[in-house]
Amino acid sequence: MSGIDYSERIPNNVELSSNKSLQRALEHWQPEYLKWWGEMGPEKSQTMDVYLRTAISVDPKGWAHYDYVKMPDYRWGIFLAPAEAGRHVNFGVHKGEAAWQEVPGEYRSTLRRIIVTQGDTEPASVEQQRHLGLTCPSLYDLRNLFQVNVEEGRHLWAMVYLLHAYFGRDGREEGEALLERRSGDADNPRILTAFNEKTPDWLSFFMFTFITDRDGKYQLAALAESGFDPLSRTCRFMLTEEAHHLFVGESGIARIIQRTCDVMNQHKTDDPAKLRGLGVIDLPTLQRYLNFHFSVTSDLYGSEISSNAASFYTQGLKGRFDETKIGDDHRLEAAEYEVPDVVEDRIVARHVPALTALNERLRDDWTADVQKAIDRWNRVPEKAGVPFRFKLPHKGFHRRIGLFTGLHVSPEGKVISEAEWTRKHKDWLPSEDDRAFVHSLMGRVTEPGKFANWIAPPLSGINKQPVGFEYVRFG
Ligand SMILES: [Fe+2]
Ligand SMILES: [Fe+2]
Repeated sequence: MSGIDYSERIPNNVELSSNKSLQRALEHWQPEYLKWWGEMGPEKSQTMDVYLRTAISVDPKGWAHYDYVKMPDYRWGIFLAPAEAGRHVNFGVHKGEAAWQEVPGEYRSTLRRIIVTQGDTEPASVEQQRHLGLTCPSLYDLRNLFQVNVEEGRHLWAMVYLLHAYFGRDGREEGEALLERRSGDADNPRILTAFNEKTPDWLSFFMFTFITDRDGKYQLAALAESGFDPLSRTCRFMLTEEAHHLFVGESGIARIIQRTCDVMNQHKTDDPAKLRGLGVIDLPTLQRYLNFHFSVTSDLYGSEISSNAASFYTQGLKGRFDETKIGDDHRLEAAEYEVPDVVEDRIVARHVPALTALNERLRDDWTADVQKAIDRWNRVPEKAGVPFRFKLPHKGFHRRIGLFTGLHVSPEGKVISEAEWTRKHKDWLPSEDDRAFVHSLMGRVTEPGKFANWIAPPLSGINKQPVGFEYVRFG
């Protein structure tokens, strides 16, 4: 079934009303969630009317309904993609068994950890982004920020549903803890490092949704392959929402590039100082932000060689990206995969058992996807006749997890000395000056159809509305 019942306190398509104790547990969590949203959700947004989409069905065609909503009244709910009849576990030692509708006892704590780790990123990003509404470059962008925020909130609901429905008391406790951790908090931080970084300005926000939400896409896609069917169905629907988050990031940066190229052509200059004087972000600064976000998000995939990743796969809990489309044995008992290695200050390739290299493989799949998007960005300067091209740094650049930890690697992939790093890193990563400059551009534009000077308008609006539509009304 795909109809969503909106007559209930918690909209859902999982027949929640037929399971009274689960319904009660979630209705008990709901006010705690709303309290968290009030404290940690978008700042000073409670009374705004926002033109948002709400899921009304899980049918990929026409699943969303658009209307003005006050965010605290958003109908967060529980939506699973339809069950696939006769679905199997498609990889690992259980390959060929019927997909699990209940948690296999021996994998209970592992699965809970996987779900909690994914779930924790959702409220974390809302917390990271909570101040951005105060410096929005347009109403269109403000609306997109809020759309991303409410859907990350819904993704938390998705994971908490699994915890409540399948993990009993432990699951309920984890559900509470998910509302207690805080991004960047010294005592009770979010689980993953990248989700404790600040998202201090809109350039960082667009980079985050472009790159870090794309990590979300790859993690969700790997979990959508899970032999634990409720997790698979939950993640499949989350991926539908995630696509818009990636769009917000990719198109946001493309519009910044467009604006900068226009000003470069108008004033016939590529001098960063002059361009900054003209109130736009020079392309080398954008490249440094890209380097930063790419490297920090690379770390989210974990170590190149991982016995945990191997177990998750062998146990049928977390697959590869597009697992069922890959033409191999889906057990990986004999297969190999190439990972980097460092030999005497040189980065070389090494073949290892594919099973142990699944983190690296997922990181590579994600990187290829990021690269495609960068190729699309590069069409903007190309069309404008500007010679600058964006380039991904080497995978070893600025890493804190795995093989490259403690090494200094240039964007070109050369292992360099500490002294050289100290001399050059300012050319490669955003400096305090860069950040201060970007910060100085952040004003607040709230007149319909107007855009901040540093970003071009989008080509079209949301849900076929005009670009100048009043996407947010201030109450
Ligand atoms: Fe999410
Ligand atoms: Fe997202």
